[in-house]
Amino acid sequence: MGELDPSIIVIFGASGDLAHIKIFPALYALWSEGFFPDSFFIIGFARTGMDDETFRKTILDALNVNCRKKPVNENDFLNFSKHIFYLKSKYDDKASYEKLGKFVEAKALEYKIPKNIVYYLSIPPSIYVNVIDGIKNANLTADNFKKGGFSKLVVEKPFGYDYDSAKSLNSEILSVFKEKEVYRIDHYLGKETVQNIFAFRFANAIFEPIWNNKYIDHIQISALESIGVGSRSGYFDESGVIRDMMQNHMMQLLSAVAIEPPAIFDADDIRNEKAKLLKSIRPYSLNDVKNFVIRGQYDRGEVCNKPVVSYKEEAGMPKDTITDTYVALKLFIDNYRWAGVPFYLRSGKRLKKHKTEIVVYFKKLPYSLYGRDGVEKIKQNSIIITIQPNEGIVINFGAKMPGFEMDIEPVSMVFNYKSSFKLSPPDAYERLIYDIIIGDQTLFARYDSTLIAWQFITSIINGWRKIDTPAFPNYEANSWGPKKADRLINADGRVWNNN
Ligand code: BG6
Repeated sequence: MGELDPSIIVIFGASGDLAHIKIFPALYALWSEGFFPDSFFIIGFARTGMDDETFRKTILDALNVNCRKKPVNENDFLNFSKHIFYLKSKYDDKASYEKLGKFVEAKALEYKIPKNIVYYLSIPPSIYVNVIDGIKNANLTADNFKKGGFSKLVVEKPFGYDYDSAKSLNSEILSVFKEKEVYRIDHYLGKETVQNIFAFRFANAIFEPIWNNKYIDHIQISALESIGVGSRSGYFDESGVIRDMMQNHMMQLLSAVAIEPPAIFDADDIRNEKAKLLKSIRPYSLNDVKNFVIRGQYDRGEVCNKPVVSYKEEAGMPKDTITDTYVALKLFIDNYRWAGVPFYLRSGKRLKKHKTEIVVYFKKLPYSLYGRDGVEKIKQNSIIITIQPNEGIVINFGAKMPGFEMDIEPVSMVFNYKSSFKLSPPDAYERLIYDIIIGDQTLFARYDSTLIAWQFITSIINGWRKIDTPAFPNYEANSWGPKKADRLINADGRVWNNN
């Protein structure tokens, strides 16, 4: 990893939460590790009226709360903040984009650098189109730069609302930018632990030969959160877990654990394999949506001995909301490797534990040498890949208990990031922003996979419209979710890993 090219990062929505909580802390971390040259600038583009100094102060306050390396050293920040500028702008105003164009022009001349611009959409999706049009009409894409340079567009999730809206958003974007200039962010892909799934599978000779339906019984993917929706009711109530987590993060985790090895470890080959994998998910019939997809919404409860409100009672929430705060589903991947292996996915808010993990369960012993009850008593081998917290990988197997009896007990071999590498991994956004600037799209969603994932998720959303909504709320805060989600997996003789 070396010094990055001179670049100008324009953050639309720079006064908002995402910019303060994630984007600026990542930029600061990259800058303090020496990745940015002198000719690097950040332009905040937003509606709030403020000058450069006031904007810089909001960034400092945010870094002191959200930065990986806090407290922030004042002198360091002073040097960093010289690269930050603010343009009070309107998203649908021609003059705002012309002003932006002039600023970029001036910096490029002053530093004798090409116009290398990253446009970061940290704004509500409803105004994406305004911004994309603004950029186009002011001729601010690389196609219009006379002396070279790049223009890249970073799009945050949610990428669309369903299949049709994602498709038309894609067309809007691709009418101005080329696919190789578009970076669709899914921050799960920037997590070290998610990237390590590829290393675990493809950099070791011992796992891949057994990574198939001959040896694997089933796979569970869980992204469980103990927090509620907090202050995000407006956004969340439009999305639900199905759009907020299942369409993106969960589909990415599924892809990581299930894709075929790519021919070469590069953006195109990996993303080709992901598209192939997502295409192989068996489509749901309406009956499948009824039987294989369980939705829930949280009720009141107690978290850390404090009462918490139900989802319907969260601030700003419509009282008759039928939005899902929990989804569990069973799916099948119809290909040679995975035929017959069920994948159980679940994600929800206000659950008993905060953990994101993938558990691969291997088939039961065909026959036990250790007495008649042995087969039932001996636990299935499993591999637990913990994405967060306590990032690591655990392999569970059976071992003989010391003593005169042949007693088999479950034991574990543990790999833990912190103890093995003595390093805390960089935040996902640091890695992603670095990759955007160097132009590596491996960790970004490509248009085809995004649409294929939407196709599957939209079939669920459409199915829900045709069947009765469960009586919400249907799970208590600080529980493991709706009882029906247990029944979904128990009916197949299996249980969720709730350890
Ligand atoms: C975001 C969702 O994309 O991911 C949030 O919008 C969710 O609702 C968050 O809480 C989870 O991310 P992480 O990194 O905390 O697992």
